[in-house]
Amino acid sequence: MISCPTVRPTDFQLSPTIPLVPFNFMLNDSGVVETGRPIYNDAKHKAPLDENLYRPDERVLGFLKAQIGFGIDDDEALKQHIFTVQRKAYDIYGYPCIRQFGFIDPQISELPVYPRVLQLGREREDGILVDIGCGFGTDIRKAVADGFPSKGAIACDLRKEFWDYGHELFKTTEETCPIKFIHENVFDVAAPDPHSPLYTTPSTHILPESLRSLASLSTLRGHISAIHASCFFHLFGENEQLQLAKILASLLSPLPGSVIFGTHAGLPEQGLRMIPRTDVGVFCHSPQSWRQLWDGTVFAKGSVQADAELVEIHGTDSRVTDARNDFKLFRLVWSITRVESSQSYE
Ligand SMILES: C[S@@+](CC[C@H](N)C(=O)[O-])C[C@H]1O[C@@H](n2cnc3c(N)ncnc32)[C@H](O)[C@@H]1O
Repeated sequence: MISCPTVRPTDFQLSPTIPLVPFNFMLNDSGVVETGRPIYNDAKHKAPLDENLYRPDERVLGFLKAQIGFGIDDDEALKQHIFTVQRKAYDIYGYPCIRQFGFIDPQISELPVYPRVLQLGREREDGILVDIGCGFGTDIRKAVADGFPSKGAIACDLRKEFWDYGHELFKTTEETCPIKFIHENVFDVAAPDPHSPLYTTPSTHILPESLRSLASLSTLRGHISAIHASCFFHLFGENEQLQLAKILASLLSPLPGSVIFGTHAGLPEQGLRMIPRTDVGVFCHSPQSWRQLWDGTVFAKGSVQADAELVEIHGTDSRVTDARNDFKLFRLVWSITRVESSQSYE
């Protein structure tokens, strides 16, 4: 079995002969796609919405009410507002995180590195935070609400509809929202080939005003202080995850403290995790293989501090948990931080 090198890593329908492949996919030796399936929009696999999965805690409710402007007693109105947006977004593309109300949860602030990210926003005059695969933009909105300067807040997604629904959810518009959203397939980000990280500060300077008209992340090579990528890497196969890591690394500022971080599906041993009731596998790194990928493959060994740990998820959604007792779900929680080094890597 080899992973497919020819299909562009995007969740768009590319050709009538190649099915929509949002997840990991494998070819057998004769080139036949064996496990790839358009599961998110395939009626057979797309689970119906379930209002019982709506169980926001006080942290999530407090954030939403403050952002959207609902009063503390408006729980029912808020709920209906969320259901309305959810239905429309789920029609566009049936990501499980939309079905499970992940799009209303600003998970970014629960990641261990988050205080350091906010600190970068305070300390670096032109600090830039980018949320890759931002969906509705909930995480980047949280970072701005917590003090990351909005002039340096950027979010990118392949599907503009999702952040448009983010505007609807948060009752903002492109004009009133201070965050810059970029419509881009991150695999199209142009950088020297092979994508290589910068080890010295770039000679170009990015004016904060220019960010408002930014058309591609390519312009920011070596200028981004923090890159957030959650529920994102696991959308792609093993080779594409490496390619993606290289692209993000090439965008990161070489200054010590600059960080790429996030969370996605992981396993104690790297390999495929099959999605229950499908024949689709998600390629998952282990903490060890994830650290090795960044420290030594993507970045020169010793030029980053790679942290990664597994957290077990105790899901209540029977579509993603499984009847089998031994089935466990894990999240990899990780951050890759540039470190000070006297060594020359170039
Ligand atoms: C599973 S959702 C995660 C959304 C958000 N990061 C979160 O944690 O809730 C994945 C997001 O990545 C976007 N996406 C998928 N492929 C992409 C690509 N090649 N470039 C940019 N965004 C992409 C999807 O449109 C979707 O909004």
